[in-house]
Amino acid sequence: MAAPEVVLVGSCMTDLVSLTTRLPKAGETIHGHRFFTGFGGKGANQCVQAARLGAKTSMICKVGKDSFGYDYIENFKKNGIPTDFVSQAENAATGAASIIVDDEVKTLFNPAPALADLDPQFYTHSNIICCNESEAEILTGITVGNAQDAGRAGLVLVEKGCEMAVVTLGPQGCVLISAKEPIPKHIPVKKATAVDTTGAGDSFVGALAFYLAYYPNLPQEEMLERANFIASVSVQSTGTQTSFPYKKDLPQYLF
Ligand SMILES: Nc1ncnc2c1ncn2[C@@H]1O[C@H](COP(=O)(O)OP(=O)(O)O)[C@@H](O)[C@H]1O
Ligand SMILES: *[C@@H]1O[C@H](CO)[C@@H](O)[C@H](O)[C@H]1NC(C)=O
Repeated sequence: MAAPEVVLVGSCMTDLVSLTTRLPKAGETIHGHRFFTGFGGKGANQCVQAARLGAKTSMICKVGKDSFGYDYIENFKKNGIPTDFVSQAENAATGAASIIVDDEVKTLFNPAPALADLDPQFYTHSNIICCNESEAEILTGITVGNAQDAGRAGLVLVEKGCEMAVVTLGPQGCVLISAKEPIPKHIPVKKATAVDTTGAGDSFVGALAFYLAYYPNLPQEEMLERANFIASVSVQSTGTQTSFPYKKDLPQYLF
């Protein structure tokens, strides 16, 4: 196997989605009008987005030895993601999150779901930390509602030891703070009419991993502008991985 440029360690989940008019009360049975399953899990989503942009990837995760696990392995193959490091547990479906430190592939850490008492080594062992508003708030205690707040939270994150922090802000794009030049930079996005924002953050992180691996010399702001654009495409159709664009369907100036 040729060496991958984007290695992802993270969760891999099958989504079981029921559409109903309202939530059932405890113990109540109600009619639903639609049911579907989907491929999800933050780690796998990010890997799929990077692969669809053309990255040579590898996924490290564990699935169960059940039909969902076998189907997920098929899904990875369909997306051109090698499954050499996808193993199957006998009696559990496991999501794992840890950091791979490698000389070549930078470590991009997406602390989702966030923990207030995150081990400080996650910051010192990550080159980049990328989180959304609510995660930034859990990690720093700063309520984030706009670019200015995101800048303040980002400064706290880089002070913890990473080289660069990125806080995503939904339709307001994202804010970059780099340790070298700790002046927050707001990178706005052209606001899209959102149909379904599920997985927007994962599309963003996957796209950023793609640029870090394949266009490492691109200015950071340019990488973020492009990741914003790709994530904004993903919010304009329904589903998580189903809404992630492929390279062939994107403007070629992105590559
Ligand atoms: N309505 C929108 N219009 C344009 N881009 C959007 C919109 N919503 C999300 N995005 C893009 O998706 C990225 C991640 O969205 P965000 O909501 O911050 O993440 P999460 O999915 O983790 O909550 C944003 O930084 C932006 O690039
Ligand atoms: C941020 O991501 C978390 C998952 O870690 C999610 O629960 C939350 O709704 C997201 N916040 C925003 C503001 O989108």
